[in-house]
Amino acid sequence: MAKLHLITYGCQMNEYDSERVAGLLKAHAYELTDSETEADLILVNTCAIREKAEEKVFSKLGQLRALKARRPELIVGVMGCMAQLHQGEIQRRAAGVDLVFGSPAIAKVGELVERVKREGRPVLETGEAPLVKITATPAGTSHLKSYVTVMEGCEKRCTFCVVPVTRGRQRSHSPESILAEVRGLAAEGCREVTLLGQTVEMYGRDLAPLTDLAALMERVEAIEGIERIRFTTSNPFNFTSRLIHAIRDIPKVCEYVHLPLQSGSNRVLERMNRGYTRQRYLELIAELREAVPEVALSTDLIVGFPGETEDDFEATLDMVERVGYDNVFVFRYSPRPGTPAATMPEQIPLEVKAQRNSRLLEVAARAAAERSRRLQDRVVDVLVDGPSRKNTRELQGRTRCNRVVNFEADGRAAVGDIVAIQITDVLPHSLRGALASLPEETVCLSR
Ligand code: SAH
Ligand code: F3S
Repeated sequence: MAKLHLITYGCQMNEYDSERVAGLLKAHAYELTDSETEADLILVNTCAIREKAEEKVFSKLGQLRALKARRPELIVGVMGCMAQLHQGEIQRRAAGVDLVFGSPAIAKVGELVERVKREGRPVLETGEAPLVKITATPAGTSHLKSYVTVMEGCEKRCTFCVVPVTRGRQRSHSPESILAEVRGLAAEGCREVTLLGQTVEMYGRDLAPLTDLAALMERVEAIEGIERIRFTTSNPFNFTSRLIHAIRDIPKVCEYVHLPLQSGSNRVLERMNRGYTRQRYLELIAELREAVPEVALSTDLIVGFPGETEDDFEATLDMVERVGYDNVFVFRYSPRPGTPAATMPEQIPLEVKAQRNSRLLEVAARAAAERSRRLQDRVVDVLVDGPSRKNTRELQGRTRCNRVVNFEADGRAAVGDIVAIQITDVLPHSLRGALASLPEETVCLSR
């Protein structure tokens, strides 16, 4: 077998895609290796969401060029969002790249690699292609938790975002293909699936017959072996009451919603073309909390969007305090080629973005600590992932609300179990607890 090394940057969708690529290349006699120097083929799965992500990739490609200079037979490929966005620049700046292909071409990866070998010259494949559900996975990678892409692309056109350019039109996979994939994963021992899409709440609206995410989740619920269902990422614009009821009513759907706000200022939201106001967002949160009082929320926020004033920024701080997120991801606005915001006037200086970034993180950390305190002494279901990172004698797992919990198992719980844990300490980045009962009992309790 030849050796394949994969380097993955960016979001969960990229992680998912990388795994499928490794699965597909199995049929072309490639097996995975962790070592760059052992590899015959290195594929870099790239992210273009912010400039920083792209810089990392270009610097990695520089290192790979040095490797290739020593071993000219090594094949280097670039896939993912940057491949789609910067094909020319990659070929110019990163000599030594043999293959560039976008996400629509993933299904053809085997053929593309063969072409590079046969033709001995760089191959470029960045056009549109029909939607295919790829379920191949590399050997020995069964997971307790898996991502499942349910749709590709995005058509929202938020003015800061490059995804509609890099990942193309919004297309949903058929429920049958998704359910077949989830059944396969469950048969291999998977207990938790995260349904993935850039605007996952839009799932199924482009299918005939029309369907939706709630209907899909109901069908995943019925798959034996799967204990938890998550979904990400949602745009508040299309988040419906029907979806809120699905979170409330479908037992396996976890009480955790990632709902990107981006900004707390209506003026900025409008210029971002997000399609909702802060009032609408707060109404949605109120409806969600009313239906699912336990729900944990996380969000994405951008600081330093063009024209963002001190008042706009304070409106974002205010929203973070009002909503009470469990987790907040803050990004400094990064102008992206081909997006409307990149050429808007009043771009914000880097130092202002940095300052707002740290102020926002501080407020978010305080608000999150407050939210965490609610978990003190509570008994929660934990899906055991593996040994604890800091102390391998302990086990680690996650709550339904996606918090990390460490606990002493004393041989009474194993990886893959769902156990009831009483929370004894609420720490800044994790929780500590103690077994409250045996696994068999808790699985029943969680229903
Ligand atoms: N589909 C998601 C977003 C995916 S991109 C949604 O509906 O919001 C992940 C996050 O990256 C976004 O939520 C946004 O906060 C951030 N992001 C996207 N483009 C950005 C840019 N140009 N600069 C800074 N952050 C950006
Ligand atoms: Fe990007 Fe907005 Fe879609 S943030 S992924 S264009 S919903």
